[in-house]
Amino acid sequence: MTGSPARRHELRGQVAVVTGAAQGLGYAVSKAYAAEGMRVAMMDIRGDLLQRVASECRSIGGDALPLSVDLSDAAASQAAIDSVLEQYGTPRVLIHNAALLITRSMLQITLAQWRHEINIILQAAFILSKAVWKPMIDAGGGSIVYLSSGSGYRGFIEEVAYNPGKHGVEGLMKCLALEGKAFNIAVNAATPGAPINTPMSDSNYTEEQKKTWVDPALLAPAFVMLARQDASGLTGHRVAARADGSWDAVDLL
Ligand SMILES: NC(=O)c1ccc[n+]([C@@H]2O[C@H](COP(=O)([O-])OP(=O)(O)OC[C@H]3O[C@@H](n4cnc5c(N)ncnc54)[C@H](O)[C@@H]3O)[C@@H](O)[C@H]2O)c1
Repeated sequence: MTGSPARRHELRGQVAVVTGAAQGLGYAVSKAYAAEGMRVAMMDIRGDLLQRVASECRSIGGDALPLSVDLSDAAASQAAIDSVLEQYGTPRVLIHNAALLITRSMLQITLAQWRHEINIILQAAFILSKAVWKPMIDAGGGSIVYLSSGSGYRGFIEEVAYNPGKHGVEGLMKCLALEGKAFNIAVNAATPGAPINTPMSDSNYTEEQKKTWVDPALLAPAFVMLARQDASGLTGHRVAARADGSWDAVDLL
């Protein structure tokens, strides 16, 4: 399926949760939601940077709730999403975008390092989704999106934690998309459909790849489209956000 952003739910005044919002793609998506007039709860371990993002979001018509949290920590993740539910209420959309990619071989990586990356990517996806699941059911629906990657469906050397973490969120997405159909909850995975200029890319792209990278803000329209979805629309798909504001979606169910 290919398309341009389609309208469904009105976003003004609605709640968005965006993880990894301090920089990179999460920052761009947070600003796009603020521009739609959403109340954006932003989670990141870089609490120092989140205050500036929150001010920018307020200056363009949104409201912002910056939450400094280490999403590798289960109790801290739970406390952060509880705080969102208490202060903002039920999200229309949850974007789990925070991730960490440190390339290490099987000989190098320790169990603690493996768990750290897996917890940010997969454990936090579970904790945040579980926390919003019943509230979304009670609200009549919602939209959940996990950031995937080529690493969500292909193998890459020395991604001993990131690779299975991204496969894991695609698996969780497929399972919850099926369960969410009865409750009008859309669950999808999203990938950057273009090379993006972010701190993660800066650490991992080759100089050749950096020649064509684009501002992640160009990919934001697909995330606005995803925020408007429920289970009668796009669900169970991997959506590639393109730099021209369009998107491609593959049905994974
Ligand atoms: N950059 C790419 O080319 C690319 C390609 C495919 C998929 N992705 C995915 O897109 C998403 C965004 O990527 P990006 O390039 O903007 O990454 P990034 O590293 O630039 O930003 C990720 C954000 O997550 C935050 N974060 C990291 N660890 C955290 C923790 N323990 N707790 C809370 N927050 C934490 C970081 O502080 C940062 O603000 C990621 O899920 C990534 O895997 C990126």
